[in-house]
Amino acid sequence: MTSSGTNSARDTARDTGSSGASGSRRAASSAAWEVLLPAVAAPARARGRSLREALREAVRSGRLASGTRLPSSRDLAADLGVSRGLITEAYEQLTAEGYLRSGRGAGTWVGGAARSAPPRARDLAPRPAGDRAGFVPGTPDVSLFPRAAWAAAQRAVLTELPHDELGYPDPRGLPRLRAALAALLARRRGVVADPERIVVLSGVSQAMAVLGLVLHARGIHEVGVEDPGSPQHAALYAAAGVRAVPLPLDGEGPAMGPLRASGVRCVVTTPAHQFPTGIACSARRRAELLDWARSVDGFVLEDDYDGDFRYDRAPVGALQGLDPERVAYAGSVSKSLAPGLRLGWLLVPEALAGEVVERKRTMDLGHPTLDQAVFARFVERGDYDRQLRRCQRAYRERRDTLVAALGEHFPGAHVTGIAAGLHVIAALPARHGPEERFLARVAAAGVAVHPLTHYTHARAGGAEEAVRLVLGYAHLSPGRIRAGVRAMAEAVAPR
Ligand SMILES: Cc1ncc(COP(=O)(O)O)c(C=O)c1O
Repeated sequence: MTSSGTNSARDTARDTGSSGASGSRRAASSAAWEVLLPAVAAPARARGRSLREALREAVRSGRLASGTRLPSSRDLAADLGVSRGLITEAYEQLTAEGYLRSGRGAGTWVGGAARSAPPRARDLAPRPAGDRAGFVPGTPDVSLFPRAAWAAAQRAVLTELPHDELGYPDPRGLPRLRAALAALLARRRGVVADPERIVVLSGVSQAMAVLGLVLHARGIHEVGVEDPGSPQHAALYAAAGVRAVPLPLDGEGPAMGPLRASGVRCVVTTPAHQFPTGIACSARRRAELLDWARSVDGFVLEDDYDGDFRYDRAPVGALQGLDPERVAYAGSVSKSLAPGLRLGWLLVPEALAGEVVERKRTMDLGHPTLDQAVFARFVERGDYDRQLRRCQRAYRERRDTLVAALGEHFPGAHVTGIAAGLHVIAALPARHGPEERFLARVAAAGVAVHPLTHYTHARAGGAEEAVRLVLGYAHLSPGRIRAGVRAMAEAVAPR
């Protein structure tokens, strides 16, 4: 992508933004053009067709919304590095089909004829990683899944489990697993763990979904979420009818002034290792958050998604340990065993316990018994501790590899956040900006990365001058990490 082309896409956005009177005439963010990049990589004779198909699909899927103004054929051709004729032909064809509209000398827009469809199941399915390194955060190394130990635990459970236990389970979870989890989490995460107040469910996501329903039923229709933060948090609460109120962070955790001013009574937070900025919530901020929750008669909803993994010191204990009546604590095996197991836990304050259990019961009549029994045995026999140690060793080495590779290929890059978890934040020197151009080049080279702006609620994606990346490393071998960073550096090297 040429820099002049990149500018032209930005100019389109700026122009349209300033013509406020045009209302629905929105400009596509430059990120929208990324959907066309694979099409222009097609062999020359198929390029026109694949470009038309990609554009059609972008309109149908809603990625290019009705009213979006398209860049001029000259600018888009320059952006994509193809001939202008190819773009003109695609515009004309799609205008004839009703996907686009154009006015004489007035440009081209996405037309209203195509109804944007809800995402189809196959669009939601994860895409194969391909050969190139993808640094998309949040993924553990599922090849470390302890198949032999898991299979042995499954065999043992199937042999030993009494028939009675194959009936509907206790909606809180098997007593045996809750007891094992209480001991594990007290020892490893410093929580106050009463097995009677643990609910086994399918992950942090279900914990948040259930909490959302419970809060909504109590008349709590807003929840504070970290900004930047996990898009999942806002989406899960929204699905329960609870509006997410983005709250800024400072260097110690959620900023208290905006939290107090927001009027919310509950806040979702990731204190051990904030997602995605990687800061650890300070001791002072922990105390302030709990004082605030008591003062508004509210709750802190703690997402301890990767709290087991800390590489420079022992992990800091969970916030819940300081006040189990004000903190609902959620965790899962998604970062340590496999997200596909769909297994997690929620430790609930007394005040919410009955309602949470009832919601879980009406939702699915309890978590699958065999999975719970297998995991209980896995924890009881020390297999889970072994697995956590194995992941810790692998992830620490991968983080070190990534930091070293960034130092080698991006001199002056600054890695921020504590040495923990499955991702780092890399702030690249100014010469690599603007973000929009950097992302387009890296995407064209087939390396998947997410900028920090991807996780801000305003979704400024692409508009930043500085490049700050959220790089997941846990799922990549050291060799792939080095190759991926090298590929990124080559893709953005001055031409
Ligand atoms: C911030 C955060 N919380 C929680 C999770 C895990 O959710 P679950 O336990 O439902 O798999 C993720 C997954 O990537 C995450 O990024």
